[in-house]
Amino acid sequence: MKGREKQLEVGRWQSYIYALPEIVYSGFLVREERESSMKRREFIRTTLASTGALVFSQYAGVRPLRAATGTDSRIEVLSGEPLGTISPNIYGHFTENLGGVIYDGVWVGKNSKVPNIDGIRKELVEQMRKIKAPVVRFPGGCFADSYDWRDGIGPPEKRPRRTNFWAGEEKGPSAPSHKYDPNEFGTNEFVHFCKLIGSQPYLAANVRSLPAEEFYRWVEYCNSPAGSTTLADVRAEAGYRDPFGVRFWGVGNESWGCGGNFSPQEYAEEFRRFTTWVPSYGGDLSFIGSGPNVDDWSWTRGFLEEIVRKGPWALRGIYGLALHHYAWNLSRGPENWVQGKRDALNFEPVEWYELLREGDRMESLITGHWQVMGEIDREHHIKLVVDEWGPWYKPGSEATPGDIIEQMPTLRDAVFSGMTLDIFNRNPEKVAMANCAQLINCLNSLYLAHEDKFVVTPVGHVLAMYAAHQGGQGLRTLFSSPSVNYDRDGKPATFWGLRGSASLNQKNLCLTVVNPHVSEGRETEIVLRGATVRSGSVTTLTHSDIHAHNTFERRDVVTLHTSELKIAAPLVLTFPPASVTAVNVDLA
Ligand code: AHR
Repeated sequence: MKGREKQLEVGRWQSYIYALPEIVYSGFLVREERESSMKRREFIRTTLASTGALVFSQYAGVRPLRAATGTDSRIEVLSGEPLGTISPNIYGHFTENLGGVIYDGVWVGKNSKVPNIDGIRKELVEQMRKIKAPVVRFPGGCFADSYDWRDGIGPPEKRPRRTNFWAGEEKGPSAPSHKYDPNEFGTNEFVHFCKLIGSQPYLAANVRSLPAEEFYRWVEYCNSPAGSTTLADVRAEAGYRDPFGVRFWGVGNESWGCGGNFSPQEYAEEFRRFTTWVPSYGGDLSFIGSGPNVDDWSWTRGFLEEIVRKGPWALRGIYGLALHHYAWNLSRGPENWVQGKRDALNFEPVEWYELLREGDRMESLITGHWQVMGEIDREHHIKLVVDEWGPWYKPGSEATPGDIIEQMPTLRDAVFSGMTLDIFNRNPEKVAMANCAQLINCLNSLYLAHEDKFVVTPVGHVLAMYAAHQGGQGLRTLFSSPSVNYDRDGKPATFWGLRGSASLNQKNLCLTVVNPHVSEGRETEIVLRGATVRSGSVTTLTHSDIHAHNTFERRDVVTLHTSELKIAAPLVLTFPPASVTAVNVDLA
């Protein structure tokens, strides 16, 4: 299969072989690179205090980018060119019953000494309220296609223990609950967690190993009115009289792989069976189809061709198509799922850039799949739901030994995450939802936790910085900056110099900017067209060491620094090396 080949082997849950990406840069008028004499440390000291003021001018059409101030970079926010509303759900999360995500991460139990609300880790709830978490996906991931939702309802003491999908990967010193699922945390507890943090639940149904009827029953359990059905009574007995009103339903997960090894045509038939005539109980049901892995255009096309075989009306029944992209192949060698991964903590600058390069493919994946979808869904009724994204390193950096697929997020992952969120912001008409993989104790974690220990990772700080974009109107924004040049195994390689996104939410304008250069800051003129600024602030996440990260013992190594935006003309800000910055402006 072009672009992707997948192998499933005994004893190894997954093995992928991807084709190397072709990166297309779409930067605007990148100017000649100029050596910056400033050193990293000087930047961190001097640039967090921003200087300057916005250049005010009415929008007068797009002009060639040129910094008037002699700076080497320029950003132009075109407030007269809206791109569409940025769905808050782009800032979504993912909690799979995998390793330490649910048991220890989210759920500590009602009798735990760890501060909790009805068994749910209190500090997690507080942090997620702060970042305005809009939606959370559960229970998987691959776990979803082995899960019987009925195991997780009813009196907790009567719930069965089951072998977790991931049990085969559990080889270290982890808690028994990671291998043998006690089902203490089921639908009720998950929906309660969502309510506590102000999120919408997004449930992923089992397509591989349960019949469609069980899906209808799960919907019935969650959404049928109080007193109407036997399952509504079971829900009420557990203390949840009112329907949960779950709107988002994933129909399987990675159905091309762990979710059933279907062909796109076979999966489309399953999708039809699962989603036809599901009672909606007066609410909206938004079905999300299991979509392509990375650049598997043939999955997208094959699925949609089969869906419309009965008629184009069938497209109306699909809310979104899931896209998964993990950045894992840093070896620049053979595309091997195990050998291709590199260390989360020990890396050279070239691996910093290679990871960003892998992640930056997200934009061309969104555009590419959108184009294929448009061949069949001409009105673009179906949106993309990027419900798994993030970097994936080899084992060895776990904060809690034995937690499988846990890794230590560093400044590199914060920059990666800012870059990815900016890509979503720049494509608001295409991306309806995205879910960082995963929330806690797994992959690109926002938080790490073990027993009574808890820490916000650099990734968690980025999600907090970007919350201001939620629900805003995306604005076209032009970035001009010298590109990064680096050595890739003896050959010259380049990466873009500065990128980001902007949005307007009533009178608040948010501009987020990523500087990927490991050692050079970017002095940048910022022009905001068509707006008058009253006040503002600049929040930056960076560190003098690109490997910096937060641990249970040293929780604030990488943290946010905020200063007032000084209004002067022209506005010049310096974006430190290896940084993510949010400029928040109140407009008159
Ligand atoms: O996020 C970890 C795993 O990665 C998920 O279970 C699966 O969907 C993906 O392959």
